[in-house]
Amino acid sequence: MIRFGILSTAAIGVKHTLPAIQQSRYARVTAIASRDAKKAAKLAATLNAPLSFGTYEELLACEGIDAVYIPLPTSHHLEWAIKAATAGKHVLVEKPLALKAKDIQKLIKVRDKHNVVVSEAFMVTYHPQWLKVRELLDKGKIGELKHTQGAFSYYNVDKKNMRNRPELGGGALPDIGVYPTVVTRFVTGKEPVRVQASVDYDPNFETDRYASVKADFTDFELSFYISTQMALRQTMVFHGTKGFIEVNAPFNSNIYEGSVVQLHNADHSECQTFSFTHINQYTLQADAFAQAIMQTETVTGKSSAPTIFTLEDSVLNQQVIDAVYGSGKTDGKWKKVL
Ligand SMILES: NC(=O)c1ccc[n+]([C@@H]2O[C@H](COP(=O)([O-])OP(=O)(O)OC[C@H]3O[C@@H](n4cnc5c(N)ncnc54)[C@H](OP(=O)(O)O)[C@@H]3O)[C@@H](O)[C@H]2O)c1
Repeated sequence: MIRFGILSTAAIGVKHTLPAIQQSRYARVTAIASRDAKKAAKLAATLNAPLSFGTYEELLACEGIDAVYIPLPTSHHLEWAIKAATAGKHVLVEKPLALKAKDIQKLIKVRDKHNVVVSEAFMVTYHPQWLKVRELLDKGKIGELKHTQGAFSYYNVDKKNMRNRPELGGGALPDIGVYPTVVTRFVTGKEPVRVQASVDYDPNFETDRYASVKADFTDFELSFYISTQMALRQTMVFHGTKGFIEVNAPFNSNIYEGSVVQLHNADHSECQTFSFTHINQYTLQADAFAQAIMQTETVTGKSSAPTIFTLEDSVLNQQVIDAVYGSGKTDGKWKKVL
């Protein structure tokens, strides 16, 4: 069992990731650290975790921890991922890993120096529905992919929430803009060469609250919009010359009864449905991450295994978001993805 230490009592951990680690076949939560020792002890007790700490540093110094999960506010991700990897811990760090792609290079160096596994927690990439979409595309079930369309929105105007606080790395693009991008890259194995976007900022929070994006993948186009101030909606559609694929719960499959992938044929006369019920993508993520650690320590000696989301992938995904901000600042001029 991989022994996880957790930095903070963040909502995502309490609601999803920590119960999921407890259900993993290969991992357990062993320690919680919080800026408030009482909060750490309370959460540790709820999870039957034996250790708790009143500072993050104490957890990193603890020899009984193999891996650290970091669900801190976005602006803190890189700093603590670097500290954890330097302390010799494997690191699962929440998305988005960074606010600029170039900043990830330092973490890559630290990962390689300390020979640890470091991965950005893109839980969607562990959900079997995306393996199914990738398989359908690979088998040419919709012919040639021409257009991918996506939407991700929710309504949140809480000024205390990190998503509405620029100093904590808030904004719609870091929070949810990363998802239509990551799943499209994941299922097609292709990278966009340039993007065009309009980005709207909340005048009070000064964080981006809406973006409409077009990404040129050379063979096909991705268009999507995201918002932190619109009613809840999630969808992804992959449209080809001979059919299209719809994904009804692309990102938070747990908010619906279950995820459904529908394959429609060319003239709408047939629809094949693939249902995914009772799947916890956070548990699958914990399993894959723990397995990657076990593989690294016992077999390959490499710093990351192919089945997890690598830091090199994080750089590619963040480069798209960087270019989206760049295009937004120039009134929607095409911006190269570098
Ligand atoms: N993968 C997913 O499905 C998913 C879903 C939601 C969020 N996320 C990501 O997870 C991260 C956390 O999101 P969240 O909504 O769970 O955050 P949250 O509830 O606001 O928790 C963040 C935690 O960070 C700690 N912290 C340290 N310094 C802080 C500071 N200066 N201000 C506020 N908190 C500070 C606090 O824990 P202590 O007081 O205990 O130290 C706090 O509880 C974000 O980066 C977000 O993008 C991922």
